[in-house]
Amino acid sequence: MVGNRLLRGDRVRLTSFEDQDLEVFAAWQEDTLYLRLLDADPAFPRSRIQLTEWLQSQRKSSNSYLFGIRMLDNPRLIGHVELSSILWNQGTAWLGMAIGDAAFRGKGLGTEALRLVLDFAFFELNLHRIQLTVFSYNEHAIHVYERVGFRREGAFREFLRRDGRRYDMLLYGLLRSEWEAGTREEEHPLDPSHSG
Ligand SMILES: CC(C)(COP(=O)(O)OP(=O)(O)OC[C@H]1O[C@@H](n2cnc3c(N)ncnc32)[C@H](O)[C@@H]1OP(=O)(O)O)[C@@H](O)C(=O)NCCC(=O)NCCS
Repeated sequence: MVGNRLLRGDRVRLTSFEDQDLEVFAAWQEDTLYLRLLDADPAFPRSRIQLTEWLQSQRKSSNSYLFGIRMLDNPRLIGHVELSSILWNQGTAWLGMAIGDAAFRGKGLGTEALRLVLDFAFFELNLHRIQLTVFSYNEHAIHVYERVGFRREGAFREFLRRDGRRYDMLLYGLLRSEWEAGTREEEHPLDPSHSG
C-alpha cells in the first residue's frame, strides 16, 4: 500500500521533534566530539533558551523539515535528521544528521534513518537533488553517505582549523535519478517504478 513504509524502517522511525526532546538534545550539546563532527562553529554548548528558540524557528520554517530519530519501540530520541534551505523552485535541499546518543552509533541505525529521509525527500517532497557537507576527518559519516549513493562533488579546501591542523570540508550530492536507480536495485517499496 502507498506510504506504508514512509518514515518507518525495520528498526528506526522518523518522527516529530518535540519540546520534551530538548532535554536529551541539550545533553548532546555537552559532547564536544558530537559538536565538532556536526558544525564548523565553535564547539560551545547552546543554552536551553537558545535551543528552544532554535526549535521554534524550525517549526515556523517553510523550507526545512526536522525529524527526530527513534527506535520503533522506544519514544526516546536517539538522533535527528534535517532537510533544510529547500529551494522549492529548484528542487534542492541540504541534509544534516546525527545519531546523538553515541551508544546507538555503529549499529546501522544512521544508515537506515538516512535512507528513510532520502525516501521522504525524493518520493514525498519530490525533490531533485540533496546535498551535504562533511568534514574530511569524519570518515564514518563519509562512508555512510557514499554507501547510500552520495557522490563527492568537491572540497572546500582547508576550510577548518582544529587542534592545530587544517582540514577540508567535502561537498556531496545525490540526484533523484541516482537514488531511484539505487533503490530499484534493492527493489525498494517506495520506488514509483515498482508500483505494479
Ligand atoms: C555519521 C552517523 C550519522 C552514522 O550513523 P551510524 O548509525 O553511527 O552509522 P552506521 O552504523 O549506519 O554505519 C555503518 C557503516 O559505517 C561503517 N563504519 C563504522 N565506523 C566507521 C569508521 N570509523 N570509518 C569508516 N566507516 C565506518 C561500518 O563498517 C558500516 O559500513 P557498511 O554499511 O558498509 O557495512 C553517526 O555515527 C553520527 O551521528 N556521528 C556523529 C555526528 C556526525 O558525524 N554526523 C554527520 C555530520 S556530516
